[in-house]
Amino acid sequence: MTRREFILSMAAGGSQVAAGVSDSPERVSAAAAPTDGRKPLIASAPVLQNAAERSMGVAFAVSADASGWVEVSTSPDMGGAKRVYSGGLGMMEVNDTIAHILVRGLRPATRYWYRVGADRIEYKDGYRMKNLGSEVSGKVHSFTTLGAEAQGSFCIINDTHDQKPSIDRVFSKLAELKPSVVIWNGDALNKAEKMQKAMDVLMTPHEKHPEFAADMPFMFINGNHDFRGRFARHLERVWMFRDPSERDGRFAELGRNFAQRLGDIALIGLDTGEDKPDSYPAFAGIFQMDRYRDLQTEWLAEAVESPAVKSAKFKVAMCHIPLFHPNWRDPNLPVGDGPKKGKCAAMTRPCARRWRPFLDKAGINLVVSGHTHRFVCYEPSADCPWTQITGGGCAVRPGSTTDFPSVIEGRVVDGQLIVRVHNCTENRVVAEKIFSS
Ligand SMILES: [Fe+2]
Ligand SMILES: [Fe+2]
Repeated sequence: MTRREFILSMAAGGSQVAAGVSDSPERVSAAAAPTDGRKPLIASAPVLQNAAERSMGVAFAVSADASGWVEVSTSPDMGGAKRVYSGGLGMMEVNDTIAHILVRGLRPATRYWYRVGADRIEYKDGYRMKNLGSEVSGKVHSFTTLGAEAQGSFCIINDTHDQKPSIDRVFSKLAELKPSVVIWNGDALNKAEKMQKAMDVLMTPHEKHPEFAADMPFMFINGNHDFRGRFARHLERVWMFRDPSERDGRFAELGRNFAQRLGDIALIGLDTGEDKPDSYPAFAGIFQMDRYRDLQTEWLAEAVESPAVKSAKFKVAMCHIPLFHPNWRDPNLPVGDGPKKGKCAAMTRPCARRWRPFLDKAGINLVVSGHTHRFVCYEPSADCPWTQITGGGCAVRPGSTTDFPSVIEGRVVDGQLIVRVHNCTENRVVAEKIFSS
């Protein structure tokens, strides 16, 4: 079998793949790493970016111009693997920093095995391009897609703020719990003026955990700090937006929102945006968070009426800024003013006013937030029909009962949703809440 026949046989059945391969005249044989002293092309472990029922986003860092790809199989020996390239049809992506591959057409609640590779591209101009050959990662990883038939648990983390001691503890707990999906619920960054900062924080957040998201699919929700900095306007170049086919065209811009089933649980992701009003002087009139929230309100109104959400036994929403505070209706607490307690109450308003009518009516069981860096569990009350849990912050402070790196874990056991809050400073469960329906 020639090299070209080999690659095409790997691609059998994938029209995107076959189109890409047949147009690559300079392809040479694959190697694990270059032997001429150049840096390996694949510069990080893969990061599973957007867990979903029928697609999976795979990203990895590269060290030079490359066209990345993923081979996916339903078998651990990679038999019958299909190859999917970075970018869409027409031209494949060439990027010197990161490869993004959106693998589509997957079956729900199904385990897949995969490995990543990249073609080294020598690019001089539009008529002078050379494919210098593939480098492959020898390691085979796996993931399981979401769906109503899926099993397992979710974990929510928040406010890691690029704090290494906190991240180490949180990722160690995730590695122990091995959830089906992790939701990174905002403030992963402090601010990102340059792309490299976002690469460091989101792709290689801790040297002790290089494969933190290689076998554990993540989802990402913005926190207010993830909107700070020049590069924050392009964060999808590092953490890709979700598969556009998940949503109606009217909601094309809502690349972070999701409504996904994990067995009996509907997971709903919302983006609360900045914590300051669009009119905040330092924002220079170049923020439109209220319009962003309005569009999400329209999306949420439809999402909670979708069959996947309506038929779920449990409904869990998550967003960075809380949607409830005991004083949130107090008109004497203007946004961005007053004592800190007042700020917390006021910051819930922009999204609570818009979204709570739909969440309340939908019979949401639980809203999980962050932002305050303070673990609190608000039980349902006359003012709010659902439970709200806010995770702790990024301080590693033994003895603190509120400010600790947290993992909020949820799983269905014997028909009940059990939610546990792990204090990762003291490595113990500090709260457990059981939902029967
Ligand atoms: Fe934060
Ligand atoms: Fe925040």
